[in-house]
Amino acid sequence: MKKILVTGGLGFIGSHTVVELLNANFDVVIIDDLSNSKIEVLDSIQEITGKKPDFFNIDLRVKEKVNHFFSENHIDGIIHFAAFKAVGESVQKPLDYYENNIGSLVYLLQEMRDRKLDNFIFSSSCTVYGQADELPITENAPIKPAESPYGNTKQIGEEIIKDTCKANGLNAIALRYFNPIGAHDTAKIGELPLGVPQNLIPYVTQTAAGIREQLSIFGDDYDTPDGTAIRDYIHVVDLAKAHIAALQRLIEKKNDTNFEFFNVGTGKGSSVLEIVKAFENTTQQNLNYKIVGRREGDVTAAYADTTIANEQLGWKTEKTLEEALLSAWKWQEKQ
Ligand code: UFG
Repeated sequence: MKKILVTGGLGFIGSHTVVELLNANFDVVIIDDLSNSKIEVLDSIQEITGKKPDFFNIDLRVKEKVNHFFSENHIDGIIHFAAFKAVGESVQKPLDYYENNIGSLVYLLQEMRDRKLDNFIFSSSCTVYGQADELPITENAPIKPAESPYGNTKQIGEEIIKDTCKANGLNAIALRYFNPIGAHDTAKIGELPLGVPQNLIPYVTQTAAGIREQLSIFGDDYDTPDGTAIRDYIHVVDLAKAHIAALQRLIEKKNDTNFEFFNVGTGKGSSVLEIVKAFENTTQQNLNYKIVGRREGDVTAAYADTTIANEQLGWKTEKTLEEALLSAWKWQEKQ
């Protein structure tokens, strides 16, 4: 049985990926420092899968602790989620973002090099494309200057991995996520935003639940059919499954080059207003919302061309937008 280290494995995408790994009969070890997650998620993972992964509360910024972990655990592959992810906060605290997101990545890669470990999956983001010149966005679209320190950590992260693959023979895949939403069908794991949600769907569900008074829609003067911005919203379980496909590709040595990167989205764009309407129709909730000015740093439209990911990874999305929205609502109701 292959043993996979999942950093940030108690977080939103991490926990769903751990469930899929366990379902696919991988042995899983989680490292998480609980800075944006709860220990209870470990029990929920066990309730869903009937298996309890090993867990280590380790801050990956502490090199000695990372080194000690690897000296005691043999690992066949790493899926690296652990990172700060709030775009706005990264503008206020750039050094925290560089220290955490880049520092931890470097320490993990150093251990892999020194111990001759292989198979690395990196959480990247469609933010690397900025406002792409052509839609849908293919993997060949140029990388645009990052809009935020957070986005920059994803670009720099990919560069660091690419250089390491070249120099040290590591095999790695970066998955460029579009907008992950939803929760597990069991409603036992889902997104747990700290404080006021920054992302659309948790804000929508919290407004419907009466925790927030009103949703602000950021701008209706974009060059889109209804004037609101367009994104590619992917069910988190579909996204989790893309990690298993990428990992299998590396383990079975089916990768074409040392370092590969794939878009992980649905291929379909939805505007903010379309999301609001779809949420209302699917959940039978009325949403209190108003249109306000644009949010700084937002692009007009981003949705994936998934052809390459579908073909190379042998993976495609299975769930609908409505299923994703309904699962997010069921999760919210349970909170
Ligand atoms: N939006 C609102 N109101 C809100 C929250 C969001 O109208 O309260 C809008 C945004 O303006 C945007 C859309 O909903 O048009 C989606 O916003 P999110 O914050 O949910 O997602 P983003 O596309 O801004 O962010 C995602 C990832 C980031 C990544 C970024 C790159 O969450 O990790 O894409 O653009 F950096």
